[in-house]
Amino acid sequence: MAQHDVLFTPVRLGALALPNRLVMPAMMRMRAIGGVPHPATAEYYAQRAAAGLIIAEATAVSIDGAGYPGMAGIYTARQVAAWRAVTDAVHDEGGRIVLQLVHHGRLVSKTDLPPAFHPVAPSAIAASGRAVTRAFERVPFDVPRALDDTELDAVVSTFWKAARSALDAGFDGVEINAANGSLLDQFLHDGANRRGGAYGGPIDNRVRLLLNVVDAISDAIGPDLTGVRLSPFGRMGALTDSDPVALYAKTFASLDARSLAWLHLIEPGSPTSDIDEWTETVRVAYTGAIISAGGHTAESAARAINDGVAAAVAFGRPFVANPDLPLRLRLGLPLNVADEETFFGGGERGYTDYPAIARRLAGVGIKPREAPGQSRSISGLCAP
Ligand SMILES: Cc1cc2nc3c(=O)[nH]c(=O)nc-3n(C[C@H](O)[C@H](O)[C@H](O)COP(=O)(O)O)c2cc1C
Repeated sequence: MAQHDVLFTPVRLGALALPNRLVMPAMMRMRAIGGVPHPATAEYYAQRAAAGLIIAEATAVSIDGAGYPGMAGIYTARQVAAWRAVTDAVHDEGGRIVLQLVHHGRLVSKTDLPPAFHPVAPSAIAASGRAVTRAFERVPFDVPRALDDTELDAVVSTFWKAARSALDAGFDGVEINAANGSLLDQFLHDGANRRGGAYGGPIDNRVRLLLNVVDAISDAIGPDLTGVRLSPFGRMGALTDSDPVALYAKTFASLDARSLAWLHLIEPGSPTSDIDEWTETVRVAYTGAIISAGGHTAESAARAINDGVAAAVAFGRPFVANPDLPLRLRLGLPLNVADEETFFGGGERGYTDYPAIARRLAGVGIKPREAPGQSRSISGLCAP
């Protein structure tokens, strides 16, 4: 077997049978219009259907859960219908697609919320840094309102409902975003979670909301269609913890007991991580299938699989720029480089107009269509 051939061997993640180990991780492109996926989103994901698995972009579970401009949601019938067109397009191309579910908690800007709403969090502690508003302006984060314990069942229900809606929209499963400073991540970390009671204080309490969400979604759609994303030691969302090794060892062990389809990790050593290597106590606490993400090349991906540390490997920016990434990696062909200027916002430009090699080989010119909106790169925002 050639060096990278292991990337092209099939693997099972829970109930999902992947024909290869290359995963397109969640990447919001901030092109949704009024919370509804952009009309070009179906084509965008369908172009990338050769991935072993597509994890569609972080999508808000509720109206107060979207922390970035141009994010889609999955809490209205219109959104579900728009996502249905996306999943149909991917399935027509023979692909598999799950949806990443998120509530951004204190990362949401009040500017973008209806008047009756205020950003929520485990404690009334603002994130340091600045929010990006719907108008792509930078404003200080608001001091969030601390959720009461009695409100947390409703938060769990919103995730539960969103998972049901995702399956109604034709998704093959869901990934729960407990990474990069999202609400569930905020509850994990004692820098943001200073509450008392059942959801604050000791690690067992801080992990409770995540586990309640995992259990509710597992009940609704099955643990074998449910994955979780974590960013241990990550620095997105300005989260800190007094003992991150103990926090993640416990979180991994608790998730391990739940027989999920996958645990998706943004690895130490990635640009958004605070440490370079795993501490042994953390990594060994999880024995199920892991998707590894963060700065992978074909070489590092093959190594992760051969060493048994990952079942599959995510390629983020390479999938943005290379709709046919699996073919290119397999044949050792050059990769297009992602244009950061068009990561966020805008329309088809920098979205559906990256050339696939087969089209280039056939001499077909790719003409970018007119983009309805302006694209932005947002400095410091590389991995929301
Ligand atoms: C444009 C862009 C948007 C992203 N959006 C999300 C997101 O919605 N949810 C998430 O968990 N990670 C998000 N990320 C992080 C990626 O999933 C991935 O972990 C990161 O890009 C590292 O992988 P790479 O080095 O292969 O690009 C985003 C990254 C990029 C570049």
